Amino acid sequence: MTDIKKLLSELTLEEKASLTSGEDFWFTKAVERVGIGAVRTSDGPHGIRADDYSREDHATMPAVCFPAAVTTASSFDREMLRELGEELGRECQAYGVDVLLGPGINIKRSPLCGRNFEYFSEDPYLAGQLGEQFVKGVQSQGVGTSLKHFFANSQETRRFTSSSDIDERAIREIYLAAFENVVKKAQPWTVMASYNKINGTHSTANRCYIDGVLRREWGYEGLVVSDWGATHDRVGAIEAGTDLTMPAEKHSDRWIVDAVRSGRLSEKALDCCCERILRLVEKAEQNRRKGAVCDKEAAHRLARKFAANSLVLLKNDGGLLPLNKTDKVAFIGAFAERPRLQGGGSSHIRETEITSALEAARDAGISVVYAAGYDRESGETTDVLLNEAVEAARSAEKAVLFIGLPDSYESEGWDRRHMRLPEAHNRLVSAVCTANPNTVVVLHNGSPVEMPWIDEPKAVLEAYLGGQAVGGAVVDILFGDVNPSGRLAESFPKRLEDNPSYLWYFGEGDRVSYNESIFVGYRYYETKKQDVLFPFGYGLSYTEFECSNLKLDRSGMTEDDVLNVSVDVKNVGKTAGKEVVQLYVAPEKGIAIRPVRELKEFAKVELKPGETETVKFCLSRRAFAHWNAESHDWEVERGQYGIQICKNAHEVVLEEKVRIF
Ligand code: BGC
Repeated sequence: MTDIKKLLSELTLEEKASLTSGEDFWFTKAVERVGIGAVRTSDGPHGIRADDYSREDHATMPAVCFPAAVTTASSFDREMLRELGEELGRECQAYGVDVLLGPGINIKRSPLCGRNFEYFSEDPYLAGQLGEQFVKGVQSQGVGTSLKHFFANSQETRRFTSSSDIDERAIREIYLAAFENVVKKAQPWTVMASYNKINGTHSTANRCYIDGVLRREWGYEGLVVSDWGATHDRVGAIEAGTDLTMPAEKHSDRWIVDAVRSGRLSEKALDCCCERILRLVEKAEQNRRKGAVCDKEAAHRLARKFAANSLVLLKNDGGLLPLNKTDKVAFIGAFAERPRLQGGGSSHIRETEITSALEAARDAGISVVYAAGYDRESGETTDVLLNEAVEAARSAEKAVLFIGLPDSYESEGWDRRHMRLPEAHNRLVSAVCTANPNTVVVLHNGSPVEMPWIDEPKAVLEAYLGGQAVGGAVVDILFGDVNPSGRLAESFPKRLEDNPSYLWYFGEGDRVSYNESIFVGYRYYETKKQDVLFPFGYGLSYTEFECSNLKLDRSGMTEDDVLNVSVDVKNVGKTAGKEVVQLYVAPEKGIAIRPVRELKEFAKVELKPGETETVKFCLSRRAFAHWNAESHDWEVERGQYGIQICKNAHEVVLEEKVRIF
């Protein structure tokens, strides 16, 4: 154990100031004179994006690209997120990375956000639960995480200057809640303060949330790092409790020294930041596993398993899927040959290999004809490509059309301006469905798209951005080796205009008013009775499940009691499969304005045909509470609450009531 206080006392003021910004883009500053080492950070987080320092050009090392967060969130599978985290932690050890920069748990306010693919959900409970497991998984391997981006970073447009202007209740219930859970339950080694302002103050200088909420209220013990380049005021950042500014900002170290000398900044505040940096260095050094290796082929198989556990079956009329391996099948669309596996920007991984659906099908001995249908990069088609697609569709018994968003449509750095697919992709759907009535559409996109053609294909599989093995996972599902069990972690509105933030999403100048307040995603659609294309929590299976016997262990309780809930779920179909049991709490009309229902628990269960499992949930005070902006605290209103077991946010299957007195 290093005596951190002693070490700190040996540092000069200049050295202390220099510690609070990076050495370069990825490393923290070392102070060799007293033996302080550097910590190595790296993006992801759905793989390792580490530079190869043995090469002159420092090119990114290849690493396994796992499914992006939009995909893994659809698994609704805590254990899977844990396993993914563990694997990433092991890989970080092998690559010499101390802190993996993720997970990103920002709330999806609008389908337009260019980074939605990097985030889990529109629902803070789901995002918080999955984020917790991811962090626990990575950190179980002696590697740190960086929970990001703290907070309300829900758009890329003017991301460095815009202010997310949000009412206190939405801040607590929507934008902070996922962070709160992960911080309290998993203590990430670091939390990353976002680029944007919150109600006028830059996140990195926001003392109220960093020192106040994160540290004092939630008991956060780790380090706060700025997003890369998000610190505008080094002194203000230290006062707020942002310990480390990344990347290197050596020119402004001087400001800190001057501020301490002139009495504008207390040396104690600087010492607190340095202490947390030194603790991170110590933790990293103590946990490094020299000579650690990772098995890239095994990880590729894992990536395929994770994707297969996450893809969402949206439509399957007449049980067209699963296809038969002896069927003569046409795969149409350039994404069949080279899938879109991830999004652009800082999370971009240099994958080790790619399994396309075409290759996976051929490897499985399936007879497939292929037509590209469109240009992969531009998304555009020509008469020749269109005719080839129609020919291929006609020549086969079943057609599988791979479409989606080209890379240029969504990335860190910009937002989409509409929710449409490329026009050529829409045209292809109609052309292929006319040529072959047994058509399946496979979608690759990082965020919801409009589907004006939804009535035309018999089946639709949402494959999202499923990582380097996604083609294998698609084939596993199309041909029934895996029964689909993903559920949407976001609502798919019919049109962009239906989204609650539509009128003001990009804001006016640098002010972005979150006028929809707590009514984000399904909280809005369900309360407003606004029809959606597919609701939050939606997804089909090749089997059927039935829930019954919903039991509450009490019909009345005080707000401090715990409510035990149990429900039986049975596989009543003919295929083994997994169901996601979703529990929502539905408050009766009280004084506070509330969404009709909110997700408060979920469980993924695997059942053989005929098998039943009793799922148990335990609800405590917070599951019933809302944030009271007058008392600045969580409050539980007395009254009746529905405990609903739902297929998805729209379909209630069972309900019992409990009264809180
Ligand atoms: C992104 C972060 C990322 C960092 C380092 C920033 O631009 O917002 O998510 O971890 O760069 O690459």
